[in-house]
Amino acid sequence: MKVGIVGAGAVGSTAAYALVLQGTASDIVLVDLNAKLAEAQAQDIQHATPFAWASRVRAGGYADLAGSQVVVLAAGAAQRPGDTRLDLLDRNAAVFRQIVPAVLDNAPDAVLLVASNPVDVVTDIVARLSRLPPGRVFGSGTILDSARFRALLAEHLGIAPTSVHAYVLGEHGDSEVLWWSGATAGGIPVAEVADQLGRPLDEAARSTIDESVRRAAYRIIDGKGATWFGIGAGLSRIVRAINKDERLLLSVSAQTPDIEGIHDVTLSLPRIVGAGGVLETLKPDFSDEEHAALRRSALLLREAADSIKL
Ligand code: LAC
Repeated sequence: MKVGIVGAGAVGSTAAYALVLQGTASDIVLVDLNAKLAEAQAQDIQHATPFAWASRVRAGGYADLAGSQVVVLAAGAAQRPGDTRLDLLDRNAAVFRQIVPAVLDNAPDAVLLVASNPVDVVTDIVARLSRLPPGRVFGSGTILDSARFRALLAEHLGIAPTSVHAYVLGEHGDSEVLWWSGATAGGIPVAEVADQLGRPLDEAARSTIDESVRRAAYRIIDGKGATWFGIGAGLSRIVRAINKDERLLLSVSAQTPDIEGIHDVTLSLPRIVGAGGVLETLKPDFSDEEHAALRRSALLLREAADSIKL
């Protein structure tokens, strides 16, 4: 499988590295305005292939994206300490007005996977600019938040994260919704599992987990300037679901005609990902409180998207 990655910074290069370690892509092309950076990243990752899989990793221009089945869009400004993701919107909207036509000219059949923040609104911009069929353009959305939620619930319960199924939905950002009423382990609601294991999920525990998920990126950015390992692995996992046509259920961000009474908004819902991108979207069975929180998140994203004139 050939994968193009536009943006050879921390996120794009880590996604390329994860693709090599997981053996997901046979051919990876890194494109960046900073050609010297793209070349250095490609060479460094290429040197990992003898320890992993025989992928060809190289730097190139937009023309080298030709034949890509997936193009990961990880270019643009990243959050600085104190930035919210939405603070990046104007800068990154301008970047994508340039990038989208160049990608489509050279990889017209690719699935476009958006990673740049604010990922929901940038995904909306890319979908509107590209005019590709629904499903062919989507964003990483809240896959990382869902992973954080699962990991923290598993830690509290003292069980493996892979045994916890939990999703964060809505904005990949401050208004995101932790779907507590849908979280299960072994098909049992997590609150009941917690009671059975003598590790009750009381209000304090739930509040701590919520805050830890919602503020994770800010804390990491404060400590090391950016996040890249979690999102890089998540992007590689999405690409694998496309490559293997897994029909994997992931909380990714895509244009949604109607959610909570809000029309044409791009946000994360449980979606089935396989060959060609997003194949189906599921509607969560929410509590009243969760419905209200998702509506607030959708309204915020709708207003942010409306602020961008393409
Ligand atoms: C984070 C970035 C990817 O949540 O938005 O780490």
